[in-house]
Formats: sequence, C-alpha cells, structure tokens
Amino acid sequence: MQGPSLLGASVMIKRLRAEVALAARSHAKVLILGETGVGKEVVARLVHMHGARAGCPFVAVNCSGIPETLLESELFGHVRGSFTGAFRDKVGLIQQANGGTLFLDELGEMSLRMQAMLLRFAETGEVQRVGSDSGTLRTDVRLITATNRDLRAQIDAGAFREDLYYRLNLIRIQVPPLRERGEDVLLLLEHYLQCAARAHDLPMPSLSEDAARLLLTYAWPGNVRELRNVAERLVLQDRVGPLMPEDLQLEIRGTSATGVIVGALPSEDSVPRPMMADTGMTEQAQQLWARLESGEDFWAVVHEAFKTRELTRAELVSIIDRALQETCGHYRDMLRLFHLPPSDYKRFHAFLYQQRANLPVAPYRNLRRRSSIPVYMGPKTSWTGPS
Ligand SMILES: Nc1ncnc2c1ncn2[C@@H]1O[C@H](COP(=O)(O)OP(=O)(O)O)[C@@H](O)[C@H]1O
Ligand SMILES: [Mg+2]
Repeated sequence: MQGPSLLGASVMIKRLRAEVALAARSHAKVLILGETGVGKEVVARLVHMHGARAGCPFVAVNCSGIPETLLESELFGHVRGSFTGAFRDKVGLIQQANGGTLFLDELGEMSLRMQAMLLRFAETGEVQRVGSDSGTLRTDVRLITATNRDLRAQIDAGAFREDLYYRLNLIRIQVPPLRERGEDVLLLLEHYLQCAARAHDLPMPSLSEDAARLLLTYAWPGNVRELRNVAERLVLQDRVGPLMPEDLQLEIRGTSATGVIVGALPSEDSVPRPMMADTGMTEQAQQLWARLESGEDFWAVVHEAFKTRELTRAELVSIIDRALQETCGHYRDMLRLFHLPPSDYKRFHAFLYQQRANLPVAPYRNLRRRSSIPVYMGPKTSWTGPS
C-alpha cells in the first residue's frame, strides 16, 4: 500500500520534508500550521508513517463542526447510560489510537471547555470516559494537532488557552501556501490532471504557455485542494488542443476576489458586498461558494461564517438557492456538493429549517443540471458524524 507523499521540487517543500523527517524521529507533540488545503493532514500522516509508531493506528479527528458534547464522547468514550442515546459502552478515539498517533485537525475551533480537557490529557496521557467513575485509563498516544487559525491572536482574544498552546507546540511545522512554492504549482497540476484523466478515462489536457503563466500568478486561496479540484474540472471539460487562459479563468474565476488573477479583475472589485449579476450572490457569498467548490465542507465554510455573523441570512439563502439550481432541487445531492457525509442530512436540514433557509424544491425540479456533482469520497477523518 502506498501512503501519502509530499509532491514538489521547490526549496520550500524540500525544507518541509526535512522537518517531517526530523519530527518522525521523536515522540514529541507536533503542531502543524498553515492555510486550508496546504497539506497539513498529509504532513501529520507522514510524521506518523516514518516514525516508530508506524505499525500502530493513526486516528484523525476533525474538531470543527462537531458539537462539543459529541466531540467529548468521541474522544474520551462513554459508558452505557451516561446520556440519552448512550446505549452501550463506547471506546473513545484516544484509546483507539493507543500506541499510535492521534491527529486533531482544526484545533482552533475547539471550545474552551474541550481545550481544558485536552490539556489534562496532554499533560497526563490519561482519559476518563464520559459518565464513568471507575477512574482513569493510561494511554500512550502521540498527539499531532493542526489549525489554519492564528493561535497567538486567538490567545490574545481569550479564545485559546496559552498553556495548551505551549503544551502542543513542542515541534512546530509551518506548511507554506501553494503560491509560495513556485513551479510546484505546475508539477502538482500535471500530477492531478494525470490522476483525473485516468480516473475518468479521458485524455490528459496540455497547457498553453499563457495558461501556465496564469496558474503561476494565481493566489490559490484553497491551495493544493483547490488545485486538485481545478485539475479535475479541466479534465472533465474534455477540450481539444492545449488549454488557454480563458479555459482556466472559467475554473478559477470564483475565487478571484481573494486570489488575485493578475490583470483579470474588474476595477470595482473592492466595493463592499455588491451583487454579482450572473448569480444574484453578494461577493461574500461568492467567496464562500468558491471555498465549497474547492473542497471545504459546509460546516467549516458556511455554518462558521453564519455563526460569526460574517454571512447574513439572505446570503445563506442565496447559497442554498444556487445549490438547489445545481442539484435540480435535491437536498440529498446537496450534501455531496457541500462535502458532507450522508449521515449529516438531519443536522443539515435542521440548520436550514431553523434559519428558514429550507427553500421549497418545486421550482428547481425541472432545471437542467449545471455541473457534475462531486462524489462524496468518505469521511476525511475517522469521525463519521451524528446519525
Ligand atoms: N505537497 C503535496 N503533494 C501532493 N498532494 C498534496 C500536497 N499537499 C496537499 N496535497 C493534497 O491536497 C489535499 C489537501 O491536503 P490536506 O492535508 O487535507 O490539507 P489541510 O489539512 O492543510 O487542509 C489532499 O488531497 C492532499 O492529498
Ligand atoms: Mg485539514
């Protein structure tokens, strides 16, 4: 079985590989920092795979979008009857990672109460199941954590515990954004074009020189994850002849407000929240849509922005409207579009209902599908969501 690898020939990526190798030689806690989609999870897996724990489990948990009480029982386990729905004892993920590595992704989203519990575990290696009074279990787990947040700023704002930060930050690995990796962009694009061409049994497109130049100046806000999705869409276009800048602009247009395409932006782009004529969405909603397209999930993007009031209800509705257009009025297909597992359906629907964003589907049912909907590839982590 072939594991993940860090592709690239840039100085940045070589340095990163060396840091990974160094981290793999010890059992110390690792904190991985970097923007979304840069490869933080790849780095975590490599540290585990190249270390002494390679033969033991690697358990990944995404801390965002999971209600606090559920995260607690997922991590620490629970005993039967400790809360409604706890029908049997459950071994927590920490214990499942025993001897191996626990990877906590999106650490910056953790509540202060969970941070306190994590700190206790980080200090002692002990876990106590929810509802258990029969003492604690000792574990031997290497902790690797990751976030795209600025934890120092969160500490200043009182949202992250400084003592936990120092506990977790023994080895720190900063993963550079794609735009700082020079020609790696082209190397990675070629790799993903090849993968997509093989997967869809379509020819691999070639790039014109102008198109390559455009890719090198684009800011890639969704980093490698975005690049992978762009590559797949380019293959699915199945064009004749090399790809021209126009072909690319169609694919990376959605993110142009954050990722500056040199010379391709209209000058009035800085006007706050204008309506985009073609989609009826504000700029803010369009940006979030682009992040969804680049592979991030609904909870991390839309739900989060709504919670922090960066997104208005009208904007939420406009996003659902667009998704209904793309799915011809099928909410279940929307889950795939938003990179959510089918088991999130209830929670998703409850959220829309609560916000009165559960638009009726009838008007959308006779539309022709606008795009191919990505197939949900299974959970990114071992957490499978509430059922
Ligand atoms: N240097 C790289 N080489 C190959 N694939 C990469 C690289 N960096 C990231 N990826 C891929 O990009 C996607 C996003 O990576 P991930 O580790 O989930 O990012 P993050 O956790 O930082 O959001 C994954 O499909 C991963 O395999
Ligand atoms: Mg991640």
